[in-house]
Amino acid sequence: MIKISPSILAADFSNLGQEARDMDAAGVEMLHIDVMDGHFVPNISFGAPVYKMIRKDFSGIFDVHLMISEPLRYIDDFVKAGADIITFHVECDSDIQATIDKIKAAGKKVGLVLKPKTPASAVKPYLEQLDMVLVMTVEPGFGGQSFMHDMMPKVKELREMIDASGKEIDLEVDGGVNAETAKICVANGANVLVAGSYLFGKEDYKAAADSLR
Ligand code: DX5
Ligand code: ZN
Repeated sequence: MIKISPSILAADFSNLGQEARDMDAAGVEMLHIDVMDGHFVPNISFGAPVYKMIRKDFSGIFDVHLMISEPLRYIDDFVKAGADIITFHVECDSDIQATIDKIKAAGKKVGLVLKPKTPASAVKPYLEQLDMVLVMTVEPGFGGQSFMHDMMPKVKELREMIDASGKEIDLEVDGGVNAETAKICVANGANVLVAGSYLFGKEDYKAAADSLR
């Protein structure tokens, strides 16, 4: 089954609660929450206090994507704010194993994210402990960028690694996903699609989300 995770980075920030309720009504499985610290990536977005406010407005999974240098320092805050799954970058400065352990000890799901230049092999030592692997199909930091087709061999390789592990691990793609690129991602083995600019701002969120499935 394909799961859709709209990125609230592209939502109307002056109306976040309504945006979350509208996505809930559209029947999407997850809400993708992009936390940026202006250090790991060149942009600053929002933190735990902001998405905590809309936890009540969405009944599905809060898929929190941390683009921050030191995720380990903030896991408690992200858990308290209502994250269901926390994904963090394998390129970050925190100890990867300690961060995985902390998220799991809080009873939450955990995923690792790969920037475009990072090979699939970087997650291999941790794969069996993960609930999700997220492949960036743009350089992280901004919404509305063009899809990087050359990430597809990596998606395929990760799908093969996941299948060989025999574990239930979601394979998510993030960046430049629209109705056309979604098909390509799914054909290469992705089962969770993040989409920001393609979904928010559309007249009919359900029709837009369904066009990705
Ligand atoms: C980029 C973020 C993405 C972004 C996707 O750094 O991780 O989640 O919001 O936006 P679109 O779908 O517009 O490329
Ligand atoms: Zn993201």
